[in-house]
Amino acid sequence: MTIVLGIESTAHTFGVGIASSDGIIFANVNDTYRPASGGIHPREASEHHSKFASELLRKALNISGFSFSDIDGIAIALGPGLGPCLRVGATLARFLALLHKKPLIPVNHAIAHIEIARLNTGFEDPLVIYVAGGNTMITTFKDKRYRIFGETLDIPLGNCLDVFAREIGLRYPGVPKVEQIARRGKMYIEMPYTVKGQDLSYSGLLTYALNLVKEKKYKLEDICYSLVETAYSMLVEVSERALSFLNKKEVLITGGLARSKILSEKLSLMVADHDSVFKPVSPKYAGDNGAMIAYTGALALDAGVSIPVDESYVRPLWRMDEVDIPWRRE
Ligand code: FE2
Repeated sequence: MTIVLGIESTAHTFGVGIASSDGIIFANVNDTYRPASGGIHPREASEHHSKFASELLRKALNISGFSFSDIDGIAIALGPGLGPCLRVGATLARFLALLHKKPLIPVNHAIAHIEIARLNTGFEDPLVIYVAGGNTMITTFKDKRYRIFGETLDIPLGNCLDVFAREIGLRYPGVPKVEQIARRGKMYIEMPYTVKGQDLSYSGLLTYALNLVKEKKYKLEDICYSLVETAYSMLVEVSERALSFLNKKEVLITGGLARSKILSEKLSLMVADHDSVFKPVSPKYAGDNGAMIAYTGALALDAGVSIPVDESYVRPLWRMDEVDIPWRRE
């Protein structure tokens, strides 16, 4: 059994997890930076991470009951993410790897969202819908890598709803609040539905919805309802085409939007039409967390993946389809 300590710090969450390659999560402690106003300020978020890093590390070790002699490697999410935030986690991970003479394992944050969801749902070879504040992608494993079968061309779906929420005065996290208001809506207002091939565009939809709020011609609940319906239907459409093409028997959603009941309802109806099974990752692993980095790091280490400390630079734009996945077979 390979046991790895993993560190997450790509965006607003600093997390430390300890997990084994056979799927036991021994610790998962996380703390999320909440801006007083506006969106994530990378420098402020990185200050939050520096402040909480040692406390969260101690807590994770205490909960697991392990010391560093029990741990086989240190995994770090090197990207994609915000530079200042990534550097806090990377600095701690390099330090721990050098101090305790452990291999350092580079983990792609997006792939970690997929692997924790495969573990959590028990799905072997799913079509993966990865939707969060920072990402919107439809992917599956093929020819050694996770290949993209659709993604946003501009802002992610989660970001579209978060920014909308913030602009109308709702505090972060905005998505559940927008959905709550949307559930009271009765009238659908036509909105920009932008699907280009397998790709999506959400920035025009966001601007359109915000302009409608300013115009005050429609009720807020009808605007929220129409925004949510349009945004989610676009994603369901491209997911359905990917599913028909790939003919997968399992479909999962991972990332922060896996917590959305409305989105999961829509996806599960579509998936049932194709005689496939749908599951969302459980809420505790939906958002960014240290456990997913630790678990993916353990899979990677078992397959021989590690990186010299002096090459472990952060990779803010690291795409998941650039990463070989030696722990999975075709
Ligand atoms: Fe994430």
